[in-house]
Order: sequence, then C-alpha cells, then structure tokens
Amino acid sequence: MDPAMNVKAGMKSQTFRNCRLQIVTGEYSLSTQDGGECVVDVFDDTNNNSLDIRIRSGNEYMPSFKVTRESDHCQIGRLRYLIDLPEQNLSVLLSFTHREDVVDFKELLNATTGRMKKRSVFNERTEKASASQYFQFYGYLSQQQNMMQDYIRTSTYQRAMLQNCTDFQDKVVIDVGAGSGILSFFAVQAGARKVYAIEASTMATHAEALIKQNNLSDKVILIPGKVEEVEIPEKVDVIISEPMGYMLYNERMLESYLHAKKWLKPDGKMFPTRGDLHVAPFFDDALYMEHFSKANFWYQNSFYGVDLSNLRDSALEEYFRQPIVDTFDVRILMAKPVTHTVDFLSAAEEDLHRIEIPLHFVVHSAGTVHGLAFWFDVLFQGSSVPVWLSTAPQEPLTHWYQVRCLLRSPLFVKVGQSLSGKVLLISNRRYR
Ligand SMILES: C[S@@+](CC[C@H](N)C(=O)[O-])C[C@H]1O[C@@H](n2cnc3c(N)ncnc32)[C@H](O)[C@@H]1O
Repeated sequence: MDPAMNVKAGMKSQTFRNCRLQIVTGEYSLSTQDGGECVVDVFDDTNNNSLDIRIRSGNEYMPSFKVTRESDHCQIGRLRYLIDLPEQNLSVLLSFTHREDVVDFKELLNATTGRMKKRSVFNERTEKASASQYFQFYGYLSQQQNMMQDYIRTSTYQRAMLQNCTDFQDKVVIDVGAGSGILSFFAVQAGARKVYAIEASTMATHAEALIKQNNLSDKVILIPGKVEEVEIPEKVDVIISEPMGYMLYNERMLESYLHAKKWLKPDGKMFPTRGDLHVAPFFDDALYMEHFSKANFWYQNSFYGVDLSNLRDSALEEYFRQPIVDTFDVRILMAKPVTHTVDFLSAAEEDLHRIEIPLHFVVHSAGTVHGLAFWFDVLFQGSSVPVWLSTAPQEPLTHWYQVRCLLRSPLFVKVGQSLSGKVLLISNRRYR
C-alpha cells in the first residue's frame, strides 16, 4: 500500500480490480474523459463519517475523494456507478467487470451513507439556512459572554447546582448546548464525576480550550455536534442545560433538551426541571400608538408623488404581529397571570410543537387592554433545595427581558369583568 495514503489503523477497506475510470465533466451533456483501467480502494472512515475512495492506475494514485452523507451516487445500467463530486465540478463514472463488484460497491456506499443519513430530528424540523445562522450566532464569543454576564442567570445556575451537590456528587452529567462549557464547570464544582458537554457551534473549540486550561480533560468530555445526532456511550444521572429562549419557547432549544432524555437513567434529574410561562393582559397606550404611527407611514397618498395607502393594512398587520421584547412596569398588568407549566421530566419533544394555553382572567384594573404580556420562570428541583430562576417584570432584569404581543383592536374592560381566550404557540414547519 502506498504510504502516502495515510490510512488510519483500524480503517476497513475493500478493493475492486479491473475497473475503468471515466470523468464526466459536462453539466448537461455527458462528455467523458477516459481515465483508463484502474483499481478502486474504498476505506470506511467511520470516525469521520465518510468513505475514502482512492483510485490507482498501475502504481499511481489519482486524487482521492470522500463520499459523505451529502454525496449523490447511483448505479447506471448493469455495470457502471456514478458519483457526483460537486466541489470538483465533475462526476466519476466507474465501470466494473463483474456484476458482483458493482453490487458490492453499491452496498458499501449505501450502507455507509445510509448509516450516515441516520434520522436527525433536528434536521427534520429546521431549515438548513436557519440552522447555520443559529449556530453561527452562538459561535461568537461575544454572544456567549452576553449570556455569561447575565448575573441573575449564571449565578442562579451555579447556586442551583452547588446547593444541590448531592444530585451531582460522583454523577455522570450531560450538558446540552454547552456553549463555553460554563454549566459543565459548575457541574464539576458540584462534584460531578464526568460531564459530556455537547455543543453544535464552533464554540465547541473554545470550550475545549477552556477544559484544557482548567485541567478538566479527565472530567469534561466535549462532544462536538447536535444533541440529535451525536452518540453518548452511557446513560447519565443528570441533564443540565440552558435552553430557554424569549417567551421560554423561542429558538426551540427546549426540544433538544427533551431529546437528550434518551440518555437519562429512569430516576435521573433534569436541571432545570420545569418551566412556567406566565401570561397577563396589559395596557400601554404609548406602545400601541407607537406601532400604529409606524404603520401609518403607509397611509400617505403622495409619498414623493406615489400613493402608498393600499399597503397600510399589510403594514399594520406586520407591525402588530411582531412580539415586543423589552421590559415594563408591573403596574400595567390588569389581571393575575395565567400560568402554563411544562414538566421537563415527563414532557416529550413533540408536546412542544403545539402548545395551547387557555386564558381566563378576572380584571383587577379598569382600562384598555392593549395586549398580552409574557414571562417565564424555571425551577431546579434539587433534592436539597428548590431554586427558581425568574424573568418576571417585578424581578431583576435578565437578558430575556419580557415579551409583549399587541392586539390590533384594544378591548375596554371594567374591574371584575372576565376575559377569556387562548394562546396558541405553533412551531414552524420545515419547508420541504
Ligand atoms: C443559550 S446557549 C447556552 C450556553 C451555555 N450552556 C451557557 O449556559 O452559557 C445555548 C447553546 O446551545 C447550543 N445548541 C443549541 N441547540 C443545540 C443542539 N441541538 N445541539 C447542540 N448544541 C446546541 C448553541 O450553539 C449554544 O451554544
């Protein structure tokens, strides 16, 4: 074997002799260049989730290529096999002498790419572009810093773990979406024996550097990749994560958190254990007018001589559909909030695809209801001390602020009146 091939120990290989290579270059017409007789070596690079295909003619190797989960390949006729290499702007057409060879070759590629194409719940629910934008965002140190510097958030997580160290002592933990690894370090501080820190963004590289710098390589094992796609070699005692988005459910990372329960031991713990979303009606004349006036831009019938007015309704709809992330004085709330609870130990990922919250309020301050205000709390139900992390408007501000949704037509209410309705949170479906 050619030493230049750099074949790793343990890599399985299979060789196909008496083949013929043709390079297909045309995009529309099948123009081919004949590469002559060749031998095809296929190496199963399990660690890198790919097949290495190396073609040699005599003793000379041609440039090798990889077949990955993204690769397109198919059998053509009885004895030929085509593999597309889009990065090289060509396709490789291999002709085999024996029918058994083409069958073996096809099975090898299908078995491997089929194995790689294992279902990914994440990919099935998330647009590719949206996922890459999402993980790019979390790949910035400045974004991790923003979360780490939220004192209420970070100190509450640390307190929840340290005050419940019996839940962590000598335990195996998964950190779902580890980011910088900060929660993994807290788990170790609380006595964890081993932490699997799973992180899908490029932040994984920085987390690895921190693990080394803090001499924790024997305890914190960084697993780069998505929770929905990686493998963990054992069941764990505790899952920790900070998966909350605006209004609790934004980002849909809670689904990834629940997904990780496939590795949780039957009596395992979830930190946080439960999430409460609170909803209450509010009045805010200024906010309502601000949105109305923004949309009124489109009411003009001579903007530089152009009539814009038939877009005003669409503009109103757009402005009023947009949730507002900011904070407010608790005195604008007009009724006791309704609370919707999700128990992370018993909830399934799919339970979060459609969340219906029946509303029933008894108004305590008369006035105009301009919309609904939302905030959330999470509970760390430790064995020793329950710890709450709250984003309520009467509590110190966090980077989650609160969220308000405006009603396009405000409602006038009197004290003691009942208000009812429902909130429906429906997750986006992936465009197929
Ligand atoms: C809100 S941040 C929390 C980071 C860190 N745990 C902390 O508390 O500072 C969420 C992190 O989870 C990662 N993440 C989100 N969804 C993920 C998934 N499905 N698999 C792996 N990582 C994910 C993001 O890249 C991001 O770094």
